[in-house]
Amino acid sequence: MKQLPDLLLQTPQTIEPCFRIDARLVVFQGDVSDCLEQLPDETIQLIITSPPYNLGKEYENRRDIADYLKTQVPLLKQLYRVLKKEGSLCWQVGNFVEEGEVYPLDIFYYPLFKKQGFKLRNRIIWRFGHGLHASKRLSGRVYHINHLKERSRLEFILRSFYSFRCNPASA
Ligand SMILES: C[S@@+](CC[C@H](N)C(=O)[O-])C[C@H]1O[C@@H](n2cnc3c(N)ncnc32)[C@H](O)[C@@H]1O
Repeated sequence: MKQLPDLLLQTPQTIEPCFRIDARLVVFQGDVSDCLEQLPDETIQLIITSPPYNLGKEYENRRDIADYLKTQVPLLKQLYRVLKKEGSLCWQVGNFVEEGEVYPLDIFYYPLFKKQGFKLRNRIIWRFGHGLHASKRLSGRVYHINHLKERSRLEFILRSFYSFRCNPASA
């Protein structure tokens, strides 16, 4: 097994509740917008997120898809601002479904990403075998992870992930 970088093996002395430039580890509990406001420009190397899909779960208010997407725009602006130029955003979403019509959210997000200046580097398909069964259509068994930004270094991470999880033909 490859050696993990020292940084990953060290236990942080303290966990900070909000951002400090010298903090080793911050765990912010609250609304992501409040967290992002604390961050200086271009400080983050990698953002991995699975935002609400507008399904009406306990943590969200289900709304019209256009309204839902509108609520995400200020967040995308902030994410672009805090991400380093060579950083990456990995945005994992599934489908929004209304009256039997399927809206693949990553397709709807794409123009919003583009407008902020993000560039799509990889469209990763996460295939899984579990979940609720649909009764009137094929059951959704994939999520899409959009990996965005300009000069990303995430390819190196992806390469080791693929060699670990997949056979060379499917990678
Ligand atoms: C689609 S779920 C993610 C599920 C998660 N990836 C998992 O597999 O369990 C969305 C998550 O975002 C959190 N969330 C929703 N709105 C948020 C907000 N404004 N700020 C921070 N987190 C939020 C929810 O509590 C929920 O855990």
